[in-house]
Amino acid sequence: MDFNKVFENNENWIAEKIRTNPDYFKDMNKGQSPSLLYIGCSDSRVSAEELMGLEPGEAFVHRNIANMVISIDLNVMSVVNYAINHLKVNHIVICGHYQCGGVKAAMQAQDLGILNPWLRNIRDVYRLHRDELNQIKDEQLRYDRLVELNVQEQCINIIKTAAFQEAFIERGIQIHGWVFEIKSGKLIDLKIDFVKHLKDIQEIYKLM
Ligand code: CO
Repeated sequence: MDFNKVFENNENWIAEKIRTNPDYFKDMNKGQSPSLLYIGCSDSRVSAEELMGLEPGEAFVHRNIANMVISIDLNVMSVVNYAINHLKVNHIVICGHYQCGGVKAAMQAQDLGILNPWLRNIRDVYRLHRDELNQIKDEQLRYDRLVELNVQEQCINIIKTAAFQEAFIERGIQIHGWVFEIKSGKLIDLKIDFVKHLKDIQEIYKLM
């Protein structure tokens, strides 16, 4: 990669933004009020703003390996709490993607060192949905389905938080589960019925 080119690109980008709105950066400097929190995979092929056609300032973004929401990961939980309680977002998106290396790794019998505890959360998703997944004989289709179920489980992990449960009662915050299909560029809405999941889990996870 030519890093001189990166800074040249940056200069071109500034010029383009100012050409369409002379106050673009002055306005942005005033603060942020994104309307959604996007949690996606770190995969270099899956951008956040670009695939949604959003501008800087429109999405609060967190990315990690396999778009996980792990209750003891201080990083993701800080992002979730800050977005809900301070930025007051009304929408949370969990966006997974097919061909996810993290999900693939969790399907292999392999010691991956420091990645083991992280990937174990994906193995737990497999265990929760073992009956459905083991019925899928085609390995690629089983892998695709695990990507989808992982998105669903991470949505459920969000609704287990006090911050989400409070914001749902207060202002009807919503959560969306999506999958990005790399081979076509399509964003697929899994249409997760989070209210149903919320009701299902509240017997155990109700925090207020
Ligand atoms: Co991935």
